[in-house]
Amino acid sequence: MIQKVVALSFPPSTTMDKLSSLARFKNACPFLGKTAPSTLRSLSTAVSPRFPSLSALTERATACPVMGPALDVRSKQIVAGYASVAANADVEKIHKDKGVFPPPGATVEMCPHASAARAAARMAEDLAAAARKKAQLSKDEVAQAAAAGCPFHQKAAAEARKAAAPAPAPAPTPVTAHNAKKHSGFDYEKFYINELDKKRKDASYRYFNNINRLANKFPVAHTARVTDEVEVWCANDYLGMGNNPVILETMHRTLDKYGHGAGGTRNIAGNGANHLALEQELAKLHRKPAALVFSSCYVANDATLSTLGSKLPDCILFSDTMNHASMIQGMRHSGAKKVIFKHNNLEDLENKLKQYPKEQPKIIAFESVYSMCGSIGPIKEICDLAEKYGALTFLDEVHAVGLYGPRGAGVAEHLDYDAHAAAGDSPDPIPGSVMDRVDIITGTLGKAYGAVGGYIAGSEEFVDMVRSYAPGFIFTTSLPPATVAGARASVVYQKNYVGDRQLKQVNVREVKRRFTELDIPVVPGPSHIVPVLVGDAALAKAASDKLLSEHNIYVQSINYPTVARGEERLRITVTPRHTLEQMDKLVKAVDQIFNELGINRLKDWKRLGGRAGVGMTAGPEPEVQPIWTDAQLGLLDGTTPHTLRNGEKAVVDKHAVTMARAEFNDLLGPISGPVQCSRTVYQHAQPEVKRQTHRMKTGAGVPLSRDIPVPPPAVSVSA
Ligand SMILES: Cc1ncc(COP(=O)(O)O)c(C=O)c1O
Repeated sequence: MIQKVVALSFPPSTTMDKLSSLARFKNACPFLGKTAPSTLRSLSTAVSPRFPSLSALTERATACPVMGPALDVRSKQIVAGYASVAANADVEKIHKDKGVFPPPGATVEMCPHASAARAAARMAEDLAAAARKKAQLSKDEVAQAAAAGCPFHQKAAAEARKAAAPAPAPAPTPVTAHNAKKHSGFDYEKFYINELDKKRKDASYRYFNNINRLANKFPVAHTARVTDEVEVWCANDYLGMGNNPVILETMHRTLDKYGHGAGGTRNIAGNGANHLALEQELAKLHRKPAALVFSSCYVANDATLSTLGSKLPDCILFSDTMNHASMIQGMRHSGAKKVIFKHNNLEDLENKLKQYPKEQPKIIAFESVYSMCGSIGPIKEICDLAEKYGALTFLDEVHAVGLYGPRGAGVAEHLDYDAHAAAGDSPDPIPGSVMDRVDIITGTLGKAYGAVGGYIAGSEEFVDMVRSYAPGFIFTTSLPPATVAGARASVVYQKNYVGDRQLKQVNVREVKRRFTELDIPVVPGPSHIVPVLVGDAALAKAASDKLLSEHNIYVQSINYPTVARGEERLRITVTPRHTLEQMDKLVKAVDQIFNELGINRLKDWKRLGGRAGVGMTAGPEPEVQPIWTDAQLGLLDGTTPHTLRNGEKAVVDKHAVTMARAEFNDLLGPISGPVQCSRTVYQHAQPEVKRQTHRMKTGAGVPLSRDIPVPPPAVSVSA
């Protein structure tokens, strides 16, 4: 089959460049750990003189006793994945199966599946040849590497010695996985392996990068090695509030006074003034009577929808196709009937709503900003339908709170921008406003507010019911006081300073404009999300890996199941803290990688009939009006904050700082003067303390019951 594939004329392979994402192995591999990043980079970018589809680094890796077999297996998997891509008929069948219908005149050469197959086949051939060469490695070479300190080679050398020994050791009991505990009965480890294999086979296995965002260098992070720094372009700390000075100051002060953990559930010892004040603040933000904080918005959505769906008699849940997993889980857990409507499609929603009597309880669950494509839900129109058919509206504003509206309350607030700006900090609803018409709003404290946690806001009785019935709220330790205080300071700060929101949108517009200029396909949308379409899982991962390893830019690739197959993308998040120079670098790097990997440009998608909203029409792309107007951004009166240049400090708004500090006068005491965002507790460096390994009393061979007194059976208490 490989020969059959190779018989086509192949462009140089790029698939194995994925292997240049090495950071996460540095701690485990002595070669990677000891080799300078610059050497690794040049090895990973240099083409192997013998095997043109491999990098010099990959060729080296084939000689490693650990990586060699792994590469062999991987190359076989890749080829197996593309094995049927042998001829035009096969490509056509794949397209048909995937629901892709290329326009007349499109050739196999234009197809990303076929080109990936060719690249895979070329690479597999080269890997096989490199492996054959490796098999001829002399014992001396292995011994040399072993002597240089590589434990894997030492192990290989030892194994070689053992193999040469006359009497082989008795065969060990077969194990199912590395270091696996063997259970009698069901083979649990084998089960895990099979489940993971399924993920790897359908390319949905997730790789997590080690990214440590630095408070003093936003948006820079270090990777697994503290000296390797990268610029982060995909974090959901949308405004950089994770290190805003007044937030850090508030958190330090709260930590000093109240310590770390909350100490219990809200029911038992974990319900303090900080939690209550945050809920009051959130209710005020959305001009709703009440709010309730959860450990995350995933939990808030799940707990609320499952409680409502199971309690409301014969409730029907109407769900947008693109709803987040947290809502989908909540609906599933409720056991209620679910009806899915097409994304943002009012006609489809109405057709489905009208099939049920008005008196039957219904909930329409949807989002304001859909985070993977950047579309915005028609909130007002959905409220109209809800009123007409007797439904509750459940609006997830997770990707909008902090980012839209004059006070950061979200898109529902933004739709009546001037009225909300005029109403200021009044807690009262504005009758007839979109935000007032939405029954339930959910939001996160973990994205634009830079903290962690989630919440719901709505009527007092609704909130009290969820508080009283939802296990996801009741039976878990509440958020730490310092986290809750930091989140509240963040909400107050953003309510009093619109500049971060404006600058974010200005920078988003600029990055989108530059991509468009270079014919780089951006899924069109009116929000702050910048989804760059790649359209292939392996290519998206390769692009992300190349950005990280060759340009020190971190943009995670988004693959199935987060987006549909064939709609894989790089989801770029631009913040008000990214500088002009960083934008230049990002755009250039993406452009270069599109060239190197042969990723489809906008014109290619147009020729292919379009994908994911990109290139759907033959002419110029239809213009999408951003939700922030020029006037709201201050572009008409010249009040827009300016994009930062390298070395410039981000604005910290004095008035917003004063307002945020004032909220904590009662709990922490008044504070004035420069913001104290760090604590210098390590003024006197201590001599290094050597790590000691203590033998635990309950260590090997000591029966647990001897060390730990077993309490008498107790009545089980849950909180
Ligand atoms: C639309 C949406 N809702 C809810 C959540 C969950 O929010 P949290 O991160 O607070 O759990 C997410 C998380 O990404 C999301 O995208």
